[in-house]
Amino acid sequence: MLARLANKRIVLGVSGGIAAYKSAELVRRLRDAGAEVQVVMTPAAQQFITPLTLQALSGNPVHTDLLDPAAEAAMGHIELARWADLVLVAPASADCLARLAQGIANDLLSTLWLATKAQLAVAPAMNQQMWAAPALQANLAVLRARGVAVFGPAAGVQACGDVGEGRMLEAVELAARCADLFETGSLTGRHVVVTAGPTREALDPVRYLSNHSSGKMGFALAAACAEAGARVTLVAGPVHQPTPARVRRVNVTSALEMLAAVEQAVADADVFIATAAVADYRPQQVAGQKIKKSADTFTLELVKNPDIVAAVAARTPRPFVLGFAAETERVLEHARQKLERKRLDMIACNDVARADIGFQSDDNALTVLWSGGEQVLEKASKSLIARQLVQLVAARLAEEDKAPQA
Ligand SMILES: Cc1cc2nc3c(=O)[nH]c(=O)nc-3n(C[C@H](O)[C@H](O)[C@H](O)COP(=O)(O)O)c2cc1C
Repeated sequence: MLARLANKRIVLGVSGGIAAYKSAELVRRLRDAGAEVQVVMTPAAQQFITPLTLQALSGNPVHTDLLDPAAEAAMGHIELARWADLVLVAPASADCLARLAQGIANDLLSTLWLATKAQLAVAPAMNQQMWAAPALQANLAVLRARGVAVFGPAAGVQACGDVGEGRMLEAVELAARCADLFETGSLTGRHVVVTAGPTREALDPVRYLSNHSSGKMGFALAAACAEAGARVTLVAGPVHQPTPARVRRVNVTSALEMLAAVEQAVADADVFIATAAVADYRPQQVAGQKIKKSADTFTLELVKNPDIVAAVAARTPRPFVLGFAAETERVLEHARQKLERKRLDMIACNDVARADIGFQSDDNALTVLWSGGEQVLEKASKSLIARQLVQLVAARLAEEDKAPQA
């Protein structure tokens, strides 16, 4: 199931063999499945296929040098080693396999191979006589004994005209083998759209109406969804939060912009999580110039903003919709009403009147309601609360999958 590759970080090592041309398609297949790919090429590999091709296909600069200060400063061998979930060498030449088996670290690929804790895999590709050579087989046995996954090779007609074992597996097959190395996360294969932060509603070019939302809960949820294997789009209002790893972020300012971004992102979404504190109203008129101070009183005419979560819940087909209720009184009663009125699948309510949790805090406590169920998530860090909430969502989705379709 290729969906397991969503969000995975793969270093693809390319060594010097004819099959290097197939690495180009492999990069495509891995990326199509949602993986991020960084390519590392040996000097010999660059004689067979250009870094430019693999750079264009991977969307990242290709790494070729161990001893280049500029390259090392951009993303060094240790950083690459730490970044990877999987290091796959495809094609793996006989020479390269020998270096990997012996722990020789004389180029970027063989050095990061030693420096990584990631899962390791090789896809050998060579002439059938080389493949049968006892020295090659001994090196492979060493790699296998250390837990390195060996993909292939296949048998057939070879570039040199020989027939036999030694052809690199096709890209589609290699991508499937890579996917098999990863466990399924509870949201693997799902697309989740999360909104976070406040919106800003302009009064004039320098002023706006907004609220105290920090975006912390939404960002923690986006991170937790990515960790659970989902492809995540985070539609963020103006906040000072770093983008979580493996999350696609779309920045917006006003409620109308947020609605437009959500409408676009949600078309193929399985789950919509609305944590943003969207302004209920916006000024009817946005002054073209800064409003001058004059009269003692000043009246603003406001118009209602669209209800983003209700708009998503009204779509057909619709994703699973999780809303948030930030209430200051009769929290559960208001939340249950909101669940039904807006036709949400689940609602998480927090009591923002409590001083120890809520908008700017690093902690939260939630009561989660859905039709026929309720769960209290006791006070904890927003990242832990987010993980627990994601597990509740995943459990409901799994139940929906089991339920007969209406
Ligand atoms: C035209 C040509 C094709 C080659 N094809 C292969 C191959 O398919 N498999 C292999 O193991 N070596 C092959 N080699 C030999 C490797 O390129 C050579 O051993 C080189 O040192 C590998 O370096 P690397 O492992 O650092 O990339 C080929 C050499 C040439 C000239």
